[in-house]
Amino acid sequence: MRPVAIVTGGSRGIGAACCLALAGEGFRIGLNYRSSGDEAEKILSACGPDGFLLKADLADIDQVEAMVKDIKTQAGRVDVLVNNAGYSINSTIFTMSMEEFDRQRSMMRGVWYLVKRVLRTMMFRQSSGKIINISSVTGHTGNPGQIPYTMEKSAMDALTKSLARELSGKNIQVNSVAPGFIDTEMTHILPEEIKDRILQSIPAGRMGKPEEVAEVVAFLAAKGSYINGTVIHVNGGMYGG
Ligand SMILES: NC(=O)c1ccc[n+]([C@@H]2O[C@H](COP(=O)([O-])OP(=O)(O)OC[C@H]3O[C@@H](n4cnc5c(N)ncnc54)[C@H](OP(=O)(O)O)[C@@H]3O)[C@@H](O)[C@H]2O)c1
Repeated sequence: MRPVAIVTGGSRGIGAACCLALAGEGFRIGLNYRSSGDEAEKILSACGPDGFLLKADLADIDQVEAMVKDIKTQAGRVDVLVNNAGYSINSTIFTMSMEEFDRQRSMMRGVWYLVKRVLRTMMFRQSSGKIINISSVTGHTGNPGQIPYTMEKSAMDALTKSLARELSGKNIQVNSVAPGFIDTEMTHILPEEIKDRILQSIPAGRMGKPEEVAEVVAFLAAKGSYINGTVIHVNGGMYGG
């Protein structure tokens, strides 16, 4: 039986690249998306014949619960969970509303709940598994106009570190991959002057490609059995950790 990898937010950007890289390592892909159904189908069909789609808004716990049931029906196992889905609401502390703050923070509840539910399968049915959380360099450096987003991303790394310790001796590795400035829709929307300022802080002198993040995720998923509870930075030298 092929090992199963679930990737959240797999319809585009870094998540789509992760689906393709994991399929290349022999994983059967369960691709979660929220609204981009056409894109999700295209990526899934490029991943091989037996993948499956999981439509769910991860900010909604009922939808996460339905997705967990769907995974059980479609695959019955989860060897790798990549918590990639994310969005950033950009506004300063002076201009952001309470509703926007709550919307940004709601994603973390979904991630925590999905991990909690998937762990039952990893621990009690398989006695093995890998959880890979996509955090961000900004959770370490901070970023103006993104306070709740950076709070969420540091929380991802805290989840990684605490969970790895909580799962001590359970043969489940939990790690974060923290991308820097990557060429996806999330960064396309930034104003040119902000992009230029960020580019000047990257020793590599360019943005990263989604595939350059995905290859690290694929390594952790397929190998990396003695890497646990840590954050791997993929940022062209922008920040060393
Ligand atoms: N790009 C960067 O420079 C960068 C840097 C550091 C970290 N990251 C992190 O990397 C991850 C992927 O970013 P990206 O740049 O690839 O972003 P992206 O191109 O905007 O793609 C985001 C993906 O997340 C999905 N998504 C968003 N909200 C969701 C929700 N509530 N439930 C389910 N799926 C949801 C989207 O699906 P739909 O289209 O279907 O809504 C889409 O597939 C994010 O966690 C982001 O914070 C990105």
